[in-house]
Amino acid sequence: MGQNIVLIGFMGSGKSAVSRELSHFLKRELLSTDALIEKNEGSSIPEIFEKAGEAYFRKVEKEAVFLASQQENVIIDCGGGVILDADNFSNLKKTGITIYLCTSPDEIYTRVKNSTHRPLLNVDDPKAKIKEILDARRSLYEQADLIIDTDGKSIQEVCNSIITNINNSK
Ligand code: S3P
Repeated sequence: MGQNIVLIGFMGSGKSAVSRELSHFLKRELLSTDALIEKNEGSSIPEIFEKAGEAYFRKVEKEAVFLASQQENVIIDCGGGVILDADNFSNLKKTGITIYLCTSPDEIYTRVKNSTHRPLLNVDDPKAKIKEILDARRSLYEQADLIIDTDGKSIQEVCNSIITNINNSK
């Protein structure tokens, strides 16, 4: 069975861009948990948060993660909060290698400051919020099989690091 490649990390860590590049380069199908949720719910992520709340979002996210983790040989781009649920993490680990794209709060802020589609960061002081959420999640992200630093690196450089690390671990 072909192991999945599972990207985890904070909003703005580059998971989506890196997984698109990996999918293209490795010729593997790409699944995004956020895209699966939007398709299943027929609504955007901000709409789901606004109309049904975060708890409902986490419930449908868990279903999407379960479905994605049942696949083989795919790249999985996970929403930043997927690791909050222990079942999510263990399901993803069963069938894939989990990779944490590690990004500093300052770099995250630079990357997300102009985006409006991340409800958790639509607050008065997004910089403080990023630090707060990252502090709460860091020890979970660090349980990934592989940690790749992304600060100051291009998408291509991050992809190359991932591919080199995966090949070396074979
Ligand atoms: C979230 C991250 C988002 C999305 C939702 C919640 C989080 O995905 O799933 O807004 O809790 O970190 P990205 O990490 O792809 O932005």
